[in-house]
Amino acid sequence: MQVIVVKDSHEGGKKAFEIIEKMMKEDEVNCIGLATGSTPITLYQEMVNSSLDFSDKVSVNLDEYCGLEENHPQSYHYFMQEHLLNHKPFKKSYVPDGMKDPDEAIKEYDDILENCPIDIQILGIGENGHVGFNEPGTSFAAKTHLAELSESTIEANSRFFNGNEEVPKTAITMGIKSICDAKAIVLLAYGKSKAEAIAATVEGPVTEEVPASSLQNHPNIFVIIDEDAAAKLK
Ligand code: F6R
Repeated sequence: MQVIVVKDSHEGGKKAFEIIEKMMKEDEVNCIGLATGSTPITLYQEMVNSSLDFSDKVSVNLDEYCGLEENHPQSYHYFMQEHLLNHKPFKKSYVPDGMKDPDEAIKEYDDILENCPIDIQILGIGENGHVGFNEPGTSFAAKTHLAELSESTIEANSRFFNGNEEVPKTAITMGIKSICDAKAIVLLAYGKSKAEAIAATVEGPVTEEVPASSLQNHPNIFVIIDEDAAAKLK
């Protein structure tokens, strides 16, 4: 793991952008794995404001809530359109289909990932160490699957809804195996609330209780964090 400590999320977004830019210039990128949430927004701003052209690239998103239409303002599909894809169109962009029968949506997504292997995956991290919607206890062998959101994730995500009741309780998410199959990974984290999860991810034992700790086994991963998120590293 290459840990890069930055001043703030703006510098973090720039660093992450530089990694993508370098790989694109070396012609190593066909498919980019994307995440939603507040963390990657500064990276998406860098991408939007750059002269890089993504119109021959494919994007795949980590996850989507079940039961939200694509045009629901809190759907991850909508988020990606707003923050990146309306401004920088890709040749093709995939987000799991949260409105379909889950078995069908899961099979469809695994087929997409098989046909379009991820060259670089962007990740945020939850306070409990989740990546995508892989909550503590999820098997490291999991590919795309239906996930139940933990209480702490429902609580954390309720800031975007009118209270906990409105937060969907299930989601379709890429699994840890799908994520770790990416050729390169950039994990981003900012703020004190992520410090414990980052320490457990980078220095703790590799355990399914901390889903992001699986990333310790990945051969090509950059962890870009600000000083607050780095505060509990030794
Ligand atoms: C989003 C995702 C989640 C978030 C995580 C952190 O697609 O998969 O794992 O990355 O919940 O969210 P923020 O960035 O809002 O703190």
